Amino acid sequence: MNMDPGLMSGYWRGMPARAVEAAQLIYGGQSSSLRRMVVNVTTACNLKCRYCDVTKKHKPEVIPKEKLLDIIWQAVEMGVEMVHFTGGESTTIPWLEEAIALVVALGKEATIVTNGVTDPKRAESLVSAGVSKINLSFDVVDREGGSRAKRVALTFAEALSKLRRTHDFAFYINCVIDKGNFRLLPEHLKFLLYHLDFNGIHPIPIRNHPGVCMEIDDVREYFEVVLPAAREIIRGRFPGEDPETTEFYRLLPQPFGCNPEEWPLIARGDFPDVLRYPCYLSLSEIAIGADAKAYNCPLTYYDGGEAIGDTNTQALAEIYRAGKTLERIQSRIPLESSCSTGCSIAFGKYNRSVYEMLQLQPSGSIH
Ligand SMILES: C[S@@+](CC[C@H](N)C(=O)[O-])C[C@H]1O[C@@H](n2cnc3c(N)ncnc32)[C@H](O)[C@@H]1O
Ligand code: SF4
Repeated sequence: MNMDPGLMSGYWRGMPARAVEAAQLIYGGQSSSLRRMVVNVTTACNLKCRYCDVTKKHKPEVIPKEKLLDIIWQAVEMGVEMVHFTGGESTTIPWLEEAIALVVALGKEATIVTNGVTDPKRAESLVSAGVSKINLSFDVVDREGGSRAKRVALTFAEALSKLRRTHDFAFYINCVIDKGNFRLLPEHLKFLLYHLDFNGIHPIPIRNHPGVCMEIDDVREYFEVVLPAAREIIRGRFPGEDPETTEFYRLLPQPFGCNPEEWPLIARGDFPDVLRYPCYLSLSEIAIGADAKAYNCPLTYYDGGEAIGDTNTQALAEIYRAGKTLERIQSRIPLESSCSTGCSIAFGKYNRSVYEMLQLQPSGSIH
């Protein structure tokens, strides 16, 4: 599978095998199986980030605990390998650790994303529950909660760093960037590299906010000025190592890809591959909203898209069988929700590689 190694962190490490499996199943006329489930445990949040669509588009709601535990059982019976907990703010849910522990007890992987604005003791309880990857959203500049929120999140991050001495889990930083702040990324990275023990930083360009989104000149500056500055900072922190081989460096070009011909489109908010190919990835993923309804993917849910079923009245397997058909995903080109602006280069590459594998079949191609 032709994917930039810089995209292969965490979740993406299993992607080449998953793409081959998807192509084989589709070629054989079968449905792809459920591999990953994203659960929005709540739409409520203790911050109000100016760019956040979840808190703006959804009324505050929490999925009932018993409902979620039942959905986890059902997903595991269907073969799910990974359950990702998000929100809203997942740590506002006091029983989050119980849901994580169930996933882990059933032999599956549990991951979360959090703003870290919580009691730092939660770092220990989340890790003890068995979470295998934590993404902490820690922006270059203060989020809407102000500098107090940033201090609390940093204390949480320091607690996670210490726990890495005794526990095995991955720790990434999510960092939203826009046209006003992307130049601060190298200094931010420097601060984090000298304060925390973590695996890498995911820059996330703001989506859906015209006027603040990075434009083509910003993307060019990002590659020509920001990335070289970040490389020097990594070199200083890890002398003797080639900075470009570190995860810290390899994740940085990820949001835009390394093909300058595509930057004008990407800067405009379009992901060329996402617009061209069916979303085969969504054939093996599902998102559960705080309303306990099932959605095609987390972005469809975030963007206020239509549910594909309701776990209050239907079994997850039934929703999956009816909602995740090849015909359905192929009929959505260009895609119906704003995933074309919110998706990523990596997802597009996955979809393109499945598409290309299907074209290689000697006969009976599905297209
Ligand atoms: C919706 S939040 C939910 C989890 C948690 N409350 C947090 O902030 O980490 C998940 C991720 O989406 C990012 N995000 C929110 N709005 C965004 C936007 N308009 N564009 C890009 N990323 C966004 C956040 O920064 C965060 O890393
Ligand atoms: S912390 Fe997360 S969910 Fe809350 S407002 Fe910010 S991005 Fe949205």
